[in-house]
Amino acid sequence: MNFENLVLEIEDRIALLQINRPKKLNALNRATISELNKAFTSLESDPDVQVIILTGTGPKAFVAGADIAEFANFGEEEGKQLSARGQKELFDLVEQLQTPVIAAVNGFALGGGLELAMSCHFRIASENAKMGLPEVSLGVIPGYGGTQRLPMLVGKGRAMELILTGGMINADRALEIGLVNHVTPPEELLGLARKLAGKIVKNSPVAISYAIKAVNAGFSSKKPGFQAEIEAFGRCFGTEDFREGTTAFLEKRTPEFPGF
Ligand code: COA
Repeated sequence: MNFENLVLEIEDRIALLQINRPKKLNALNRATISELNKAFTSLESDPDVQVIILTGTGPKAFVAGADIAEFANFGEEEGKQLSARGQKELFDLVEQLQTPVIAAVNGFALGGGLELAMSCHFRIASENAKMGLPEVSLGVIPGYGGTQRLPMLVGKGRAMELILTGGMINADRALEIGLVNHVTPPEELLGLARKLAGKIVKNSPVAISYAIKAVNAGFSSKKPGFQAEIEAFGRCFGTEDFREGTTAFLEKRTPEFPGF
């Protein structure tokens, strides 16, 4: 498989999938989301692949979010579509993949980047990782499942604090609240991911796929929350706050939100 924005290597039944737009801190544009969909779909049906490690290239970022430049001009309906399509094409796909996916968070995991890491089956991080959902600072809300998966992982109160402040936490705090399972020096991150993947590879692929299904089924009652997120995300795109937030980001200035 040849990709413009991804690098894929397969060795010892472990696929290393790297998002590769380092100059844009691996921000998720449409093309990258579509390539990730193709990569995950094909890896899932590849009998030579039993675990997938997902990470970003470059020293700075896992994924710094959805590509703000791409959606700044969208209206309400386009916003809603962006969220609904993205959730289906990538975030739900990864969560429900029968092949386990480990996120190796090697730097910034913000907005859609953290949402992508949270869709993976579990997460490890390097000491320099920074995580957060800064959407409200742009006049929008997380739209790729962040309002749902963050509370599932860390509890409602901690999720509310992260979402409403739009702030970032470091790797140690992420470990403390259960957002990531392990923290390592940056140079040891992929080694640890491979070590964990190596343990999974020894187990029954069929049993593993059933385990993923069973764990996910325990959270299936949360479905209406994801739909509510899509609706609310779309509504943000019709607001003056959204215009101001995204314009300010692109003009590299602090936003002044008009509010209600
Ligand atoms: N969408 C589009 N482009 C992005 C991006 C995103 N989410 N995140 C970073 N980039 C781009 C920057 O615009 C910049 O491009 P340029 O060199 O053409 O100007 C490049 O990536 C490098 O980012 P820069 O901001 O210069 O790096 P930094 O080290 O000063 O700051 C961050 C790093 C992560 C704090 C900052 O890039 C940031 O706040 N990004 C947006 C995070 C965000 O709000 N994500 C949620 C989106 S819904």
